Amino acid sequence: MRDQAFNLRAIASKNILKNVKAGRSPRVIAVTSGKGGVGKTSLVVNLSIALTKMSQRVAIFDADLGMANVEILLGLNPSGSLYDILYGNKTINEIIFEGQCGIRIVSGGSGIQELANLDRQGRERLIEALSYFNDCTDFVFIDTGAGISRNVLGFVAAAEEVIVVVTPEPTSITDAYSMIKVLSTYKVHPGVGIVVNRASNEEEALLTASKIAAVTKRFLQIKVNHIGSVCEDRVVGQAVKDQCPFILRKPDAVASSGLQAVARALLGVQSQAGKGMGNFISKLFRLYR
Ligand SMILES: Nc1ncnc2c1ncn2[C@@H]1O[C@H](COP(=O)(O)OP(=O)(O)OP(=O)(O)O)[C@@H](O)[C@H]1O
Ligand SMILES: [Mg+2]
Repeated sequence: MRDQAFNLRAIASKNILKNVKAGRSPRVIAVTSGKGGVGKTSLVVNLSIALTKMSQRVAIFDADLGMANVEILLGLNPSGSLYDILYGNKTINEIIFEGQCGIRIVSGGSGIQELANLDRQGRERLIEALSYFNDCTDFVFIDTGAGISRNVLGFVAAAEEVIVVVTPEPTSITDAYSMIKVLSTYKVHPGVGIVVNRASNEEEALLTASKIAAVTKRFLQIKVNHIGSVCEDRVVGQAVKDQCPFILRKPDAVASSGLQAVARALLGVQSQAGKGMGNFISKLFRLYR
């Protein structure tokens, strides 16, 4: 009896995954860093909005175990998280919420911790929930916590593209390098993108990126691509306090123009569709096996 039910669930799970694969294919991009507090969430939120202004449909998966940072930056109150989905308390439609310019956000919350121990039913619920992002989405950004923990690495390794945020501080540079080094051992990404945040000027940003590129080229088998930079700008801190993205509040600020350049570069890197959520989910399951 158990075997029959088990097989049926296995088939259902496979079918869902097949449907996910057959659907649209957003680019799934994990945004991470070695050191914490370098500006990942700020980048994800404002970059998402910049991309919506370029006619892209964007979703954010907040995979930070700690505070619901994305929601705080947007001044929103999530009504549930991935945890509620995994345990069947809520549906994806009940926990997804819409931010400015139509960006859709799902909060991982304490559901992130559960991923390593999911039973088959939990996995099916996860597939169903995350495949929601396949519909009508061009970009899915995954805002991770900082550092080399298993949960962070699982999401980063499963995403088809990775952006490492780094500031010019020496500790941020060495921690970014450590993160890229660990990622290179997974051998799943031919390259990673770098966004330099909080540099005093473009020159310092280029220097920071070139330091990482040099040491990576010398010691690791992974390419580093400097996507762009967002300079130090007081509008960023002010926008955090006002819970309104700076790209909306101050579109002409220095930080906003840096961010728009990052968005244009991302769009220019590859115009073809991404691999979608099916690819992300199957990789995630392999990593958590
Ligand atoms: N370009 C910038 N100019 C000025 N301040 C900035 C800039 N980018 C980020 N900050 C400041 O840094 C703080 C931390 O940013 P953010 O929360 O986005 O970092 P994080 O990497 O997501 O942090 P965590 O690792 O805790 O998730 C923000 O409150 C903001 O005030
Ligand atoms: Mg954050």
